[in-house]
Amino acid sequence: MKCVGLFAGIGGMELGLHSAGFEPGLLCEILPEAQAVLKERFPGVDLHTDVKKLRSIPKNTSILCAGFPCQDLSSSGHKHGIAGLRSSLVGDVFRLLAKKKCDWVLLENVKFMLHLNGGEAMANITQALEELGYRWAYRVMNSQNFGVPQRRERVYILASRTMNPENVLFRDCVHEPATISRPVDISAPVGFYWTEGTFATGLADNALPPLKGGSTIGIPSAPAILFPSGIVGTPDLRDAERMQGFDEGWTRAAEAVVKPSFRWKLVGNAVTVNVCKWIAEGLLHPPKTGPTNFHPHTAKRWPGAAFGAKGKIWRVDGVYGPFNRTSLSSFLQYPTKPLSHRAVTGFIGRALKGNLQYPLGFIQALEKYAKTL
Ligand SMILES: C[S@@+](CC[C@H](N)C(=O)[O-])C[C@H]1O[C@@H](n2cnc3c(N)ncnc32)[C@H](O)[C@@H]1O
Repeated sequence: MKCVGLFAGIGGMELGLHSAGFEPGLLCEILPEAQAVLKERFPGVDLHTDVKKLRSIPKNTSILCAGFPCQDLSSSGHKHGIAGLRSSLVGDVFRLLAKKKCDWVLLENVKFMLHLNGGEAMANITQALEELGYRWAYRVMNSQNFGVPQRRERVYILASRTMNPENVLFRDCVHEPATISRPVDISAPVGFYWTEGTFATGLADNALPPLKGGSTIGIPSAPAILFPSGIVGTPDLRDAERMQGFDEGWTRAAEAVVKPSFRWKLVGNAVTVNVCKWIAEGLLHPPKTGPTNFHPHTAKRWPGAAFGAKGKIWRVDGVYGPFNRTSLSSFLQYPTKPLSHRAVTGFIGRALKGNLQYPLGFIQALEKYAKTL
């Protein structure tokens, strides 16, 4: 079973598929530092640079996967939409599929894609898949439910020409959330972006907020954690790599090309390995039945989960899981780096100026920490 990885980055999707039994047959990635990682981690695999120059994919490909660039679709990006310079590169996926239709296609991108410009990206993608003869299913899935304490909600689109992708994507589901959502509580570690504080709280309860690829000018930024002890620190890069499902040190080879801090960007851009492994396991043993709680969907807004074919869409309601949760406190293996006085007071200043609501005692705990520095 061969897979092709376009926009392969550091190979999160490909490693997930490989762990389940797929062999990478071709990789394509434009960034030299990510290529350095791919060369080391997938030795001997045909590695191409620019997807626009890729003529075809190998004949025996079972699945093509692509976590295509999200900058134009992200809520924190330019919001140019699917026609934007970078996200429109998904068009090359369809160009290649038109030449060689493989059994399965797996796409990943940010959740905001469902809403931006009325969900235009989803409409384009599902239409393109259908034109190529694919049946599709998608779900918003959170890495936090796959054994890593990182709140990272992403849309996973799975399509097939021969099978029902919804049977794979909606397996192991329950109809109730694992935990009733509750306010973030500072008696457990709280993950947050110390660079934010003005527009959104983005706090994560006993977890990290989504690791990010860094700012548009390429400055990698690690989130911070307020521990119940009152200490505030940023996690070690090795723990961040583990937080995406990689072994620690996975991106070390990038240091031959860029400064060590830029490894954060590669990790933040990656697709969580564990989620892709779970999907790949389902491809190898596809269940015979699919979701039960589905309804024809006609509303303009894209729901959080659906499947479709030949112009019809069915919304899938109330799907949660699988649940494999782990707490941030038990996950971290390396000491955190204390957050600087400047960083913490900068955050407090922004938070106090704005009118965002923070959990009881959160800002006070940060103020207390700042006084210890
Ligand atoms: C969201 S990241 C994908 C991450 C990857 N799936 C992983 O797990 O690491 C998108 C990737 O597309 C790459 N990319 C952007 N333009 C490209 C192009 N023209 N050809 C190939 N790769 C490109 C970026 O360098 C980036 O690594």
